[in-house]
Amino acid sequence: MSRLAILWKKKGQTIGFVPTMGALHEGHASLIRRARKENDKVVVSIFVNPAQFGPNEDFSRYPRPFDKDRALCAALGVDILYHPSPEAIYPPGYKSFIEVEGLSQLWCGHFRPGHFRGVATVVLNLFQTVSPARAYFGEKDYQQLTIIKTMARDLNLSMRVIGCQTLREKDGLAMSSRNQYLSPSERRDAAMLYRSLCEASEKINQGIEIASALKAARQKILSIPNSRIDYLAAVDGLSLEEIKSPRLGARILAAVWIGKTRLIDNIKLA
Ligand code: PAF
Repeated sequence: MSRLAILWKKKGQTIGFVPTMGALHEGHASLIRRARKENDKVVVSIFVNPAQFGPNEDFSRYPRPFDKDRALCAALGVDILYHPSPEAIYPPGYKSFIEVEGLSQLWCGHFRPGHFRGVATVVLNLFQTVSPARAYFGEKDYQQLTIIKTMARDLNLSMRVIGCQTLREKDGLAMSSRNQYLSPSERRDAAMLYRSLCEASEKINQGIEIASALKAARQKILSIPNSRIDYLAAVDGLSLEEIKSPRLGARILAAVWIGKTRLIDNIKLA
């Protein structure tokens, strides 16, 4: 992979990169289409990264429909599908990890200790191998996107990290590989998450206090059977610190369990 990347770069060709863990859906397809449009070559990686899963998380049951993913990549004109083995990324004796301090401990980081250390480590590793001019990430994982942008800035990576709009199902549920864990009734109820975020953001944009708008959203989300909220908060769009009054670029971030499935989503405040 790296040798091909060097060859392309020598010829002045740009590489657009879409890192994934597979189980590709229309959200990934939209990232790949954008990479296709903006670059000479497109590389997609599929690697279910053990370092970003906690001991009691879904690493072993994470969906791995590789043949289907490969067919989708071929149909979208991907030049290289990079599918490394765990040993290729973490050979025996591997010792180096990337920590984006502060940002990685907030929100999802609080509930999934070590998760973003695993994400930043594998993403930097993949960037080193692929040498992209641009890498594309969905805004659904807003904290992940912020952490990767910060890492790229701090480490002077000569590439752009591009955040792309979240793709949603017809009822508003953010597309995610984990949606397939939901039972049919949980899937129906899951639409309430985005509806609650939209209502909260509308209220805040109309001048209602953040605390009271989020209280109503919390109640609505908790009316979903078997739901539990890890966090629901309005944050600064760059520092991800909690805010009590609106400001430019702010977002509402949420992580919610429905049954055994953890969903995350976020929405921009005006
Ligand atoms: O968002 C994902 O699918 C993963 O966290 C990523 C960025 C591919 C790193 O494993």
